[in-house]
Amino acid sequence: MVADLAVRNVKILDGTGGPQRDGDVAVEGDRIVAVGELGTAVVGPSTETIDGNGSCLSPGFVDVHTHDDGALLRHPDMAFKLAQGCTSVVIGNCGFSAAPARPGEADPSGLIGVRPTWSDLAGFAEAVADARPAVNAVALIGHNSIRRLVMGDERREPTGPELAEMAGHVALAMDQGACGLSTGLIYEPGRYSATDEVIALARESSAGGGIYASHIRNEADRLLDAIDEAITIGREADLAVQISHHKAAGRRNWGKVAESLARIDEANAAGADITLDVYPYTAGSGPMAQYFDVDRIDPELAAVIRFASCPAFRHYEGRMAVDVAAEQGVSAVDVIRQVLTAPEGDRTICIQFIIDEADIETNLQHPLMMIGSDGVVDLRGQPHPRLFGTFPRILAHYVRDRGILTLEEAVHRMTDLSCRRFGLVDRGVVREGALADLVLFDPDRVTDTATYDDPKQEPVGIDAVVVNGRIAYRSGVHTGVGAGRMLHHGRSSS
Ligand code: ZN
Ligand code: CU
Repeated sequence: MVADLAVRNVKILDGTGGPQRDGDVAVEGDRIVAVGELGTAVVGPSTETIDGNGSCLSPGFVDVHTHDDGALLRHPDMAFKLAQGCTSVVIGNCGFSAAPARPGEADPSGLIGVRPTWSDLAGFAEAVADARPAVNAVALIGHNSIRRLVMGDERREPTGPELAEMAGHVALAMDQGACGLSTGLIYEPGRYSATDEVIALARESSAGGGIYASHIRNEADRLLDAIDEAITIGREADLAVQISHHKAAGRRNWGKVAESLARIDEANAAGADITLDVYPYTAGSGPMAQYFDVDRIDPELAAVIRFASCPAFRHYEGRMAVDVAAEQGVSAVDVIRQVLTAPEGDRTICIQFIIDEADIETNLQHPLMMIGSDGVVDLRGQPHPRLFGTFPRILAHYVRDRGILTLEEAVHRMTDLSCRRFGLVDRGVVREGALADLVLFDPDRVTDTATYDDPKQEPVGIDAVVVNGRIAYRSGVHTGVGAGRMLHHGRSSS
């Protein structure tokens, strides 16, 4: 047996959190076939060899919180993820998923950005496979998407038949490979659902071996109530829970993440199975219309808004609402109202500076905290830098500069832990027989270069990325092999 690919002279971080060790890794087809000292029996003249020069080799990073559903079709090169060392993404977060859908009907959330040709997850997965994306993806099925499909924008409880129809969509998606149900309970139309509705749908996920991932109902003044609701849903539907982008939003709530983590620890000690993710930035981002009541615009929030994508006023992109307001001699509230009431105003994606830096560090110290970028993919505007910088930022700032967690621990929480949680089988570890998703990076040099002013910048220090055994990125070059796959929850895929 002669390997197709060998990465030699590296420090291997195997994903388990154990100490790094020197060695080589050999790959044949899409699997790792040898780890350690490689003899001439493994590496032959036909073996493509990368000299790691003592850099780190780890499993490819898993972005557990993305809105990449449409991006897999619009930007199959997935350059903004691949260049960070990401080899898999979890799509369908915050209750918004590309499937199920009504073929031909525009996506109303503004997060997908593709007119569907599919009606269910199997159809979407086929479209993704045809697009040959650079990275793997596994799907959550989104409650907002299902509810809108079945009930439109109705602000009421579902009838019995409507609930049964929604449950049917969850069950079908689980059959077709979804890793669970996601909700976005602050968003339309999910915010009109009572806890019982979510429990009923989460039971379908549970029956299919899936999890419940939630953008919880409130991340600000009522954070702890919202955490309690997620714990209740996990208990009543008997399934694991992922708290998405854990934060305490708004200055008066800063510091509350410690209380919220304590509550989660307590629930876990009593038998719950709750994990979390976080992005390493003090600003969030999403559809602006969802955060404001146009008749009662919150001035505190208006003061911390920056425009990422603004089809109505392109020249606002990359600017703070307060700066635009000062220029026009009006208030930030006036500017927000002007944008929201303009044609296409509802397509605005904003960035909101609502998070405390100290809370990010508190979050990252928690052993069950994974990393999810939560990037919104509109490359025409000035997106949140997390879309391009999340994973290198963890390694550069929080591991190397701040020492908040060790390199081994950080890699574990970006790989093995994430793969176990989201049902990515035979991935997230460097060991013989595992699928060959790998990233070679220099821990001293790795740095995110994306900023709020210049967000579309690929990081430095990520030297090579291997997806399913194929070199997808090397020395700043995207090879375009398109080796990513739509993954089926709980199944090893080759
Ligand atoms: Zn969210
Ligand atoms: Cu999200």
